[in-house]
Amino acid sequence: MLFPAHDGAFPISALNEQLQSLTERLTKALATATDTTTLEDVRVRFLGRSGEITLVRRSIGTLPPGERPQAGKIINAAVTGLEALVDAAARALAFRALDAELERSIDVTFPGTARATGSLHPVRRAIEDACAYFERRGFAVVTGNEIETEYFNFDALNIPPDHPAREGLDSFYLRPGLLMRTHTSPMQVRTMQAYPPPIAIVVPGKAYRRDAIDARHSPVFHQIEGLLVAPGIHLGHLKGVLTGLFRDLFGPQQAVRFRPSYFPFTEPSAEVDTTCPGCHGSGCKTCSGSGWIEIGGSGMVHPDVLREAGYDPQTVTGWAFGVGPERIAMVRHGIDDIRVLFENDPRVLAELA
Ligand code: PHE
Repeated sequence: MLFPAHDGAFPISALNEQLQSLTERLTKALATATDTTTLEDVRVRFLGRSGEITLVRRSIGTLPPGERPQAGKIINAAVTGLEALVDAAARALAFRALDAELERSIDVTFPGTARATGSLHPVRRAIEDACAYFERRGFAVVTGNEIETEYFNFDALNIPPDHPAREGLDSFYLRPGLLMRTHTSPMQVRTMQAYPPPIAIVVPGKAYRRDAIDARHSPVFHQIEGLLVAPGIHLGHLKGVLTGLFRDLFGPQQAVRFRPSYFPFTEPSAEVDTTCPGCHGSGCKTCSGSGWIEIGGSGMVHPDVLREAGYDPQTVTGWAFGVGPERIAMVRHGIDDIRVLFENDPRVLAELA
């Protein structure tokens, strides 16, 4: 019997001792329980229906009735504490099991898998660099549609109906009057028709021509069109701006050379060359020994084009140019075959990054 009848001892303190001893033994038993089955055995032995705590509860009956409620409260409080001990032990056990599992499957000291970082495609980089150069000078970047009307692609640009470029042999027609634009120049007229002068824009985008694929040609390629129209604009402004562009793209020693040429929408017209960055002008394989490389076409906007756009050639003049981002990328990276830029072999692109 746990609690002798009222014999002078204070039964509540005996109860406390009883519970104290039970707590100590439970704690010891929990410490040796290294798996869930043993832990459950311990719980049943102490807190189960025929466990030790039940014996303690039963002894309440031996107390004087006046002391029973208090004894009941003490026991209930003790049970809550004991259950918490068992729960804590169960949680610790689960954590240890998880730790062991992680230890087995993850070596945190092992070096991680390196992930390749992406990079801009060289053509995209040429476009972004060139546009940024012009944006710093107050030019707006605009884009147009790759499908164009014959009017904007040819007629408005003073390209006569019998011009070879207008034949289906050279251009991709979708239907009569509608084609894949053969250059970005249609955006000159579209922009001028939409806004009054002054105009300062660059137009990056794709252009399409029926060219067979070889080291220098692709049926789809990029252009960056430039257009500046305002009172008093002359070729000197064009040469200055292009010299700045090529110095920005290729290095501080770049010069610009204009070679007389012909475009129906500019007068005068010029091919634009810049110092070969490979040899700085002394002649090498890249420039076929000339010291110069061709980057695009340019000229003063033809009065007919200004008029067609609704501008007055007596009050405003302008220049326009078209340069090739593929060409810029090839010169920058010493690539001699344009197909490298379209094949997109990730190993090659990684080297160009
Ligand atoms: N559109 C011309 C071409 O594609 C380039 C160019 C643009 C020439 C602007 C002069 C002025 O070849």
